[in-house]
Amino acid sequence: MRGLFVAVCAASSVLGAVSTFVVPHSPGQDDSPSVVAALAKYSANATILFKSGVSYNIWTPIVFSGLKNVEIVMEGNLTLPSDVPTVQAIVASSSFPGHWFKISGMSAGVTLRGSLDPRTGWINSHGPQWWDAMNQVNRPHLVNFGVTNGVIRNMKIVDSVAWNFAISSSTNVHAYGNYIDIRQRPGGGFPFNTDGFGAGGKNLLIEENIILNGDDCVTVGSGGFNVTFRNSYCYGGHGLSIGSLGKGGSVASVQNVLIENVIMDSELYGARFKSWTGGAGVARNITWRNIVVKNVRFPIYVTQNYWDQGIGPKPNSSSTTSTHIEDFTFENFTGTQRDTPYVEGSCVSDPCWYAVEGATGHESIIFDLYPGTGTNIRAKNVNIRTKTGVRPQVMCDPAAITSDPGFKCWNGDFVQTKSKGSL
Ligand SMILES: *[C@@H]1O[C@H](CO)[C@@H](O)[C@H](O)[C@H]1NC(C)=O
Ligand SMILES: *[C@@H]1O[C@H](CO)[C@@H](O)[C@H](O)[C@H]1NC(C)=O
Ligand SMILES: *[C@@H]1O[C@H](CO)[C@@H](O)[C@H](O)[C@H]1NC(C)=O
Ligand SMILES: *[C@@H]1O[C@H](CO)[C@@H](O)[C@H](O)[C@H]1NC(C)=O
Ligand SMILES: *[C@@H]1O[C@H](CO)[C@@H](O)[C@H](O)[C@H]1NC(C)=O
Ligand SMILES: *[C@@H]1O[C@H](CO)[C@@H](O)[C@H](O)[C@H]1NC(C)=O
Repeated sequence: MRGLFVAVCAASSVLGAVSTFVVPHSPGQDDSPSVVAALAKYSANATILFKSGVSYNIWTPIVFSGLKNVEIVMEGNLTLPSDVPTVQAIVASSSFPGHWFKISGMSAGVTLRGSLDPRTGWINSHGPQWWDAMNQVNRPHLVNFGVTNGVIRNMKIVDSVAWNFAISSSTNVHAYGNYIDIRQRPGGGFPFNTDGFGAGGKNLLIEENIILNGDDCVTVGSGGFNVTFRNSYCYGGHGLSIGSLGKGGSVASVQNVLIENVIMDSELYGARFKSWTGGAGVARNITWRNIVVKNVRFPIYVTQNYWDQGIGPKPNSSSTTSTHIEDFTFENFTGTQRDTPYVEGSCVSDPCWYAVEGATGHESIIFDLYPGTGTNIRAKNVNIRTKTGVRPQVMCDPAAITSDPGFKCWNGDFVQTKSKGSL
C-alpha cells in the first residue's frame, strides 16, 4: 500500500500547472449548471473550488467524468434540494446518473476533499424528512467515486438520504479523515440504507473516518481486492460487512480484506459476512482484528443464508450452498454485547428482519454456514461481556465447520479452545 500512495503523490506533482475554477454562487438559483459548463475547460490539471463560507445550491446532479489530475475542493456548504418530490423526480428521470455526484477519472489523480473548518464544508441532503415519512422511493445516492489513483479526504456529510461513498469501481484510493453524520433524531425515523463506504474496489485504504449512520459502516462487495479499513469509529449502523454476495446465483469474488482497529458503538452487527443461498464464488483471506464493540447486538455474525428480509419472507430454496468462505480470522474482539431486549431502529416487522431462529439473544458469535462451504474460519481472543452478565453464547453447526474455529462449535456457551492455528 505504501508504495502505491507514494506513486499517487509523485504522479500529481509531475503533472502540469493547475488552473482553478471558483464555483460561482447565485442566491435562489441552482449552482450546478455552472460547474457542468466549466468542466469543458477544467477536467484536466485543474482545481474546482467550492469556496469556504458560501452555501451552494446543488439542485441538480453533477457528473465529473474523465478527470485527470483534478482536485475537487468542497470547502463551502453544499445543499441538495430540500423538497422531496423535486429530488424524487430527478432520481426517477432516465438521465439521472445514479448518484448526485458522479466522479470518474482513470490513471491520473483525482482528489475530492472537504474542509478542516467545522463551520463550513458540509454536504446536506435533508434526510430526516425522508426517514420520518419512511419514504424510500427514488432516493438519491450521494457520491460515486470511480477513479484510478484517487483521494477522498476531510469530507463532511450530514443527513444523507441513501448511500454515501460508493467507491467500488475505483482502484488505488486513499479515503481518510472523512466525517459522515447521519444520526436518527430522538423519536424520528430510521436512516435506512445510508451505507458509509461501498468498497468493492481494488487497493483501497480507508482510514481515520467517523461514520454515524443507519446501515453498513463499510461494505466490501464482489470485486473487492486488497481492501483495508482501519482506525475508525462507527456508530448506530449495521456493521463492518462483506457482502452481500452471490445474489441470484451470481459468482462473487472478494479477496484480501483487512479491517482493524475499529470501535463499533451501538451498532447492530460488529463483524459481518452475508451471502445469499445458491450463490457461488469465494470470499478469501478476510481479517477483522482489534475491534472494540460497545453495546453491539451481534458482535460476530456470518451467514450464508442472507436475504432481504425487508422485502418478504425467506425465499423457498432447496439450495444447500452459497459463496464459499476461506481463511476468515476474527481476532481481538473486546467490549460489550447488547443482549437486553430491544428493538433496533430498522426493525419494521415481527419478527424483526435480523431475528435469528433458535437464538437465545446472548450469542456473541453466530456462524450460519452450509456444510462444505467454509475452510479455515477462526476466532481468537474474543473477550466480550454481555450487558446482562449472562455467559456469552455461540451458534455454530459442527457439521458445517469441521476445523477448530477457536471455540467449541455448538449452540451453547462460548467456550474458547486452544486453536491449533498459528494465530
Ligand atoms: C496536463 O498536464 C500535463 C503535464 O504538464 C500535460 O502533459 C497535459 O497535456 C495537460 N493536460 C491538459 C488537458 O492540459
Ligand atoms: C454550513 O453548514 C453548517 C452545518 O450545518 C452550519 O453550521 C453553517 O452555519 C453553514 N454555513 C453557511 C455559510 O451556511
Ligand atoms: C494486491 O496487492 C498485492 C500486494 O501489494 C499486489 O501485488 C496485487 O497486484 C494487488 N492486487 C490487485 C488486484 O491490485
Ligand atoms: C491476505 O490479505 C492481506 C491484506 O489484508 C495481505 O497482506 C496478505 O498478503 C494476504 N495473504 C494472501 C495469502 O494473499
Ligand atoms: C414457501 O413455502 C411455504 C410452504 O410451502 C409457503 O407457505 C410459503 O409461502 C413459501 N414462501 C415463499 C416466499 O414462497
Ligand atoms: C491483540 O491484542 C493484544 C493485546 O492488546 C496485542 O498485544 C496484539 O498485538 C493484538 N493482536 C493483533 C493481531 O493485533
